[in-house]
Amino acid sequence: MSQEPPDDAEVQVVSGIVAGSRRYRSVDPAVVRRVASEELPRARNREDAVKRVKRRLHQAVGAYRATGAAGAGGLARDLDRLRTARERDPDARLGDELRAACRDLLARHASTRERLPFLDRLYAGVWDAVGGVPASLLDLGCGLAPLSLPWMGLEASAHYHAIDADIGAIGLVDAFLSIVGQAHAAEVRDLAAPIGPQAAQPADVALLLKLVPILDRQDPSAAQRLVQGLAVRHVVASFPVRSLGGHARGMEATYRRRVEALVSALGPRVRVQTETSVPNELVVVLTLG
Ligand SMILES: C[S@@+](CC[C@H](N)C(=O)[O-])C[C@H]1O[C@@H](n2cnc3c(N)ncnc32)[C@H](O)[C@@H]1O
Repeated sequence: MSQEPPDDAEVQVVSGIVAGSRRYRSVDPAVVRRVASEELPRARNREDAVKRVKRRLHQAVGAYRATGAAGAGGLARDLDRLRTARERDPDARLGDELRAACRDLLARHASTRERLPFLDRLYAGVWDAVGGVPASLLDLGCGLAPLSLPWMGLEASAHYHAIDADIGAIGLVDAFLSIVGQAHAAEVRDLAAPIGPQAAQPADVALLLKLVPILDRQDPSAAQRLVQGLAVRHVVASFPVRSLGGHARGMEATYRRRVEALVSALGPRVRVQTETSVPNELVVVLTLG
């Protein structure tokens, strides 16, 4: 097995093949290229490299993906439903009909689906731990979680910065936040990139909901690097306590150890550590000095 740095042209070819497939065309091209350059030196040939890259992208992005949203037509239908719900209830920015539409969309992403019964508890607990509802929020590896806005209690003026490597999820989130008149930015970015722009835009709170385990599989130093680059007062990291298949398999103990390791790597910058877990999800709030 060769460990030579991969040839740039071959990285482009493998990335192009992967990005051309229906399942992975909406993954940030920077993530596809990074994973292709990591997998090429381990691969037997081009075909093997393509398989390896697809497997890694499945673990990072594909496994959680919205089901039922079929490309641009699916997005247009979802947006129509959100717009209609908003228009039918003009007095309430986040009224009942909009909540019902958001709930259906949240059920499409594995990660938000398992949180549905505890949505208001989760955000209320987090805001309690950070001393109140934030005026600005950074949602890293957000998936479809910003569609939980009706249960978050944020002011419309609170700036919501949503970042993910899934272009489809970011497109839906961006349009949704515009429809409901939320101050926001929605950005496609590789949060595991070893170099490049950090998420340094200041905010009151950064959410890393169920993101650390996903970054760990891409690069064991990515989560620490990401948190160190943040200009925020509070970092909220959460971890699933059951696998996508519903098995517990000692996940809670494993992730408690992961939190300890992250806190110890962050050193004295972490001043307070609070837990605001809900069933299914270990939630830890770190207050930075
Ligand atoms: C387990 S889901 C969590 C989604 C959301 N935070 C939640 O709790 O519902 C992990 C998310 O991280 C995103 N992701 C994975 N690797 C990424 C990367 N390198 N850069 C940015 N986002 C990434 C995936 O697209 C997915 O939306």
